[in-house]
Amino acid sequence: MTHPRAPDPAQEFARLEGEAHVWLARPDEHLDPALLEGYHALLSPEEHERARRFVREPDRHHFLVAHALVRSALSRYAEVRPAAWEFEKGEHDKPEVSGPSGAPPLRFNLSHTSGLVACVICTQIDCGIDVECVGRVKDLAGVAKRVLSEGERRALFAREGPARDIRFTEYWTLKEAYAKARGLGFQLPVRAVRFDFESSAEAPSISFGEDIDDRPEHWQVALQPISDDHRLAVALRRGEGPDRELVLREQWPRG
Ligand SMILES: CC(C)(COP(=O)(O)OP(=O)(O)OC[C@H]1O[C@@H](n2cnc3c(N)ncnc32)[C@H](O)[C@@H]1OP(=O)(O)O)[C@@H](O)C(=O)NCCC(=O)NCCS
Repeated sequence: MTHPRAPDPAQEFARLEGEAHVWLARPDEHLDPALLEGYHALLSPEEHERARRFVREPDRHHFLVAHALVRSALSRYAEVRPAAWEFEKGEHDKPEVSGPSGAPPLRFNLSHTSGLVACVICTQIDCGIDVECVGRVKDLAGVAKRVLSEGERRALFAREGPARDIRFTEYWTLKEAYAKARGLGFQLPVRAVRFDFESSAEAPSISFGEDIDDRPEHWQVALQPISDDHRLAVALRRGEGPDRELVLREQWPRG
């Protein structure tokens, strides 16, 4: 059997000029012991230490797959071995690529939820990603009051049943994706990051309350249903530049 050649990293990197790539992995599909041994070999001592701190084996497995995904995906765009990537954390713990020296300017963000891991990769600009399971929140009214604006709550509670749960998950993932792109963690007043699904049929639009010093026209946000149960959102600070094409690259680790 012949295997298709892996695409040239320089060409893959050049694609990121106009695109942002989202890599997905479903941890339940990564069970082959030889594969997992290979993933272990990719992680840094710090990542091994973090993995060891999880009490439950499924959580350790999830972490292993997520961090192997990030390293393998980054290596699609550079002549750097997956194990050789170095990371450093910002003030609120957002990780960024910090080495090896000479590596191209890749940016990424990672998100985990039950059954799914997602990583967005782009160049230069701030990026954030979030994946969530629909219906995870039980006290919808209480949580909505904490994280949604008044307008968002009105739009949410005009819906009923599963449609309401789905819309809540969509607001949540969008807000988290923006928060993660900014890298501010819980410092960000998320109620003041507002999304409107009514103004455009194509994508929800973003606006800010006065607590947030930012410009909506500098942001590209996208929402993607991954399955009936999962929603994914991406936020890119594209500034004055054009929108980037979002490309879903699901097939890891197979090709
Ligand atoms: C802290 C926070 C990043 C964690 O997010 P989460 O939904 O629990 O977890 P996710 O799986 O989506 O993201 C975790 C990954 O994001 C990355 N990350 C960590 N801190 C980050 C930060 N400050 N900014 C961006 N990314 C960060 C890491 O890669 C982490 O993965 P790792 O722990 O395996 O290394 C996020 O909750 C946050 O910034 N929230 C602030 C906004 C807020 O108040 N949201 C509430 C609902 S809208």
